[in-house]
Amino acid sequence: MDIPVLTLDGPSGAGKGTVSRLIAQQLGWHYLDSGAIYRALALELTEKDFLHTSVAEIVEVALAMDLVFECGDDRLVKLNGQDVTDLLGLESTGNNASKIAAIPEIRAALLQKQHDFKQAPGLVADGRDMGTVVFPDAKYKVFLTASASKRAERRYKQLKQKGIDANLLEITADIQERDQRDSERQFAPLIPAADAVYIDSSILSIQAVVEEVLSLVR
Ligand code: DC
Repeated sequence: MDIPVLTLDGPSGAGKGTVSRLIAQQLGWHYLDSGAIYRALALELTEKDFLHTSVAEIVEVALAMDLVFECGDDRLVKLNGQDVTDLLGLESTGNNASKIAAIPEIRAALLQKQHDFKQAPGLVADGRDMGTVVFPDAKYKVFLTASASKRAERRYKQLKQKGIDANLLEITADIQERDQRDSERQFAPLIPAADAVYIDSSILSIQAVVEEVLSLVR
């Protein structure tokens, strides 16, 4: 059976997560948060001495991870039986994820975990290389972006709302550093698939983006 896949790629902070979840909910499709897989691996590795762990060892850890996504009203991610939802959201986890994600052997080891999410009646896949590498034959492809300053501003507001101390300049610098690393890496860099629809969310509401993406599928 031909299971439809909608890929949503773009830089951090463009709103992919929120948009993808809303679309998956409305279509009744499954949702793959591929960034969370890289983040979970980064968490596992913080237990070890990151720089002195060989690629072969990291691949072993990646393959052994027991990762469960529970989608109720609130998102819950369990890693080896432990709730790691809050830890996954930390800026430091995102940065470490971006670093290990540049290693091709690690990307290859995580491919099967991502393919397993493709189940009927459909999949919304959120990441950097969903439309280019992981699901190149996806029926629908979107590249969602926004200016770096807008993305930093949104992230800053999110952290403040959660009562977390944040500095806008630091967040902007972090976002720019991560964009550069994710876009310039040699393997599966962050680039729009040739057949992706490009959406700039800088001046669009989440609802407007959701409508635009849904109109592609309907
Ligand atoms: O989407 P995110 O911020 O949760 O992703 C965290 C990091 O993981 C991101 O900076 C780069 C990496 N990543 C990746 O290389 N490929 C993906 N498909 C998803 C995330």
